[in-house]
Parts: sequence; structure tokens; C-alpha cells
Amino acid sequence: GAQQAPFKIGLILPMTGQQATTGRQIEAAAKLWMAQNGDTVAGRKIELIVKDDTSLPDVTRRLAQELVVNEKVDVLAGMGITPSAMATAPIATQSKTPLVVMAAATSSITEASPFIVRTSFTLPQVSVALADWAPRNGIKNVVTLVTDYGPGLDAEKFFKSRFEFNGGKVPESLRVPLRNPDFAPFLQKVRDLKPDALFVFVPSGAGAAVMKQFGERGMDKAGIKLIATGDVTDDDQLNDMGDVALGVVSSHHYSAAHPSAANKKFVEAFQKANKAMRPNFMAVGGYDGMRVIYEALKKTGGKGGGQALVDAMKGQIFESPRGPVFIDAQTRDIVQNVYLRKVEKKDGQLWNAEFDVIKDVKDPGKSK
Ligand code: DHB
Repeated sequence: GAQQAPFKIGLILPMTGQQATTGRQIEAAAKLWMAQNGDTVAGRKIELIVKDDTSLPDVTRRLAQELVVNEKVDVLAGMGITPSAMATAPIATQSKTPLVVMAAATSSITEASPFIVRTSFTLPQVSVALADWAPRNGIKNVVTLVTDYGPGLDAEKFFKSRFEFNGGKVPESLRVPLRNPDFAPFLQKVRDLKPDALFVFVPSGAGAAVMKQFGERGMDKAGIKLIATGDVTDDDQLNDMGDVALGVVSSHHYSAAHPSAANKKFVEAFQKANKAMRPNFMAVGGYDGMRVIYEALKKTGGKGGGQALVDAMKGQIFESPRGPVFIDAQTRDIVQNVYLRKVEKKDGQLWNAEFDVIKDVKDPGKSK
């Protein structure tokens, strides 16, 4: 028979600009998936087209439009930040192209298009566990500090309401801008308020700056604990944060230290292929996103088609390096375990060591 056309995946990532670490992690993970699983699926040659949106949503939208119209991609993927995913959603809907969101994590993203499927996480999903843990561990009074956009507002809202429901007090909620954030004045304010703990969400790549200034301002010595979503104790940066990070408790869906055979294999292969770079939660979102695309194409017998692919993504169940996951057929969002972790030193390296798990957590942002 005639040679089948290649199956094109348009992977739009922030390879430069403020979110460049996200792009670097996801590109490496997508390439690792292809190296391990081949570049032919159900008779179709897989063509991965990587585009750099420079961390700017207007560029994401323009690149998505070009990929759909000129390259006729079968799937769009990537989306380093929420504004990029939101800007691309209408293109996915109009062109009936599946959009696999591998990074962005505001709850409402999956509601922006019926063609969106998510393999990352949501901030409500990971924030609630910490709001349950804190009051059971002597933390009654918490100031929140989040980046002032979708995921930060989700983290603030869901942490605060659950923590208050559990009897905790949140005297102040601080928001820092996404572009060129300066944490110093906010941390000074927190020092003056002297809560039991500071709860922080910042996007991947910004955690090291928070940690450094937290240490420099002597917050820990003033008796203020740092608790955070795992975006702050990001495995991409954690090992360079120094001892100020020791003991920080966070909640998240992935740790490079997750003690499963599947994860050990993933981390080893990733580090071998990438000059010892440690994979973070972004890498896992990219790796699992590629699996979801491969499995969907297999299910359609290599035929593809936007609606058929989305339908074949719904309900997928598999073991990720993060643990067991599934794609909720109703919401097209990922259901997964959320882990409580504490930063510990092992063999001279810093790790997010998991000490508790809440199983099969759905995004609470969608339950009303
Ligand atoms: C988003 C980006 C991040 O880097 C992160 O860690 C969480 C959420 C976002 O823009 O949705």
C-alpha cells in the first residue's frame, strides 16, 4: 500500500525566557519517551516538532496556529504556563486538534476546550493535602504567598479554605507578580507578621530565589516554617538550594525520590541521556503526555483524527514514574496520588523524601 503520512506532534514549549527550565525538562522527557518506545506507532512515523514560545502566550498562540494550518499537526502539546494554554484552547477547539497540556496547572484549563487533555496536575489537587497536614502538626497560623496568576490564585484559595475549615487562621494573603518577582519586601512583611508558617506557591524555576531570600532574612531562625507546593522544592533546582531547604515540607504529585522500580528506571535513563540533569515534575508531565498520545494513536489503529484521539485518551490508566494515574473521562484531567514530602539529605544530595500519600486525588476545583 501507499506510504502512510507521518503523525505530527507540535510540541510548544518555553525553551527560552522565564520558564526555560520547564521547556528543557519537557523536551528531554519527550525525547526519552521516543528513544525508549520507538518513532513508529501503528504504522505511522512519529514526527515531533518542537517550537519555542519564549514563555510568552501571544507567541504560543501564533505558533499553534501555524502548526495547525501549515504543518497540519495531528496533536498540539506542551503549554509551559497557564496563559499559554488559555491562549491556545480556542485553536484546539476550532481545528478539532487534541491539546495535551503537560505543564500548566490552573484547574479551569481543561474547561477551556473539549480537546484539552492534561497530564500535569492542578494546584487545588496538591494544595489541599498540605492544609490537612499543617494543623495536625502544630501549625495554626499561616501567611500565604503566591505568584499572582491562575495557579497561584488556585493554590491560595484551596489552601486557605481547607486550612480555615480545619480551624487554622490565615491573617494575610500576599501575591507577587509573575514577571521579574522580587520576594524581599513580601518576606519582610511575613517576618513582621510572625506566623507559625509561610505557605508558598511559585512556578517551576522560581523556587530557588524564594528559598535563598527566606534563608537570608533569617525567617527560619525567627521560628517561621516554610511549607509549600512541590513547585517550590522543584527537583530541577533542589540540589543547589543548600541546607536552608532541609526540613521543608511540601505536597505534590512527583518526587524524583519516589521509591518505585518504574521511577528508578525513569530517573536513571533521564539522567544518563541529559548530563545528569535530575527530572522534575515537568519532565514527568511530558513523558506521560507522550505515552497518552502513543496509546491513543494505537487505539485508533493509526488512523488518528481529533475527536477519535481525544476519546482514546479518555480513561487511560497506567503506571507513571509518579505512581498510578488515570485520565478522568468526564473532565479529561489527571487523577493521581498526592504525596507529603520532606527535604532530606541522602548521600550528600537533597531530595523530596515522601512520608505520606493521599491516593487517587481528583482535581477538587471541578467538584462543584
Ligand atoms: C504553572 C507553571 C508552573 O511552572 C508550575 O510549577 C505550576 C503551574 C502554570 O502556569 O500553570
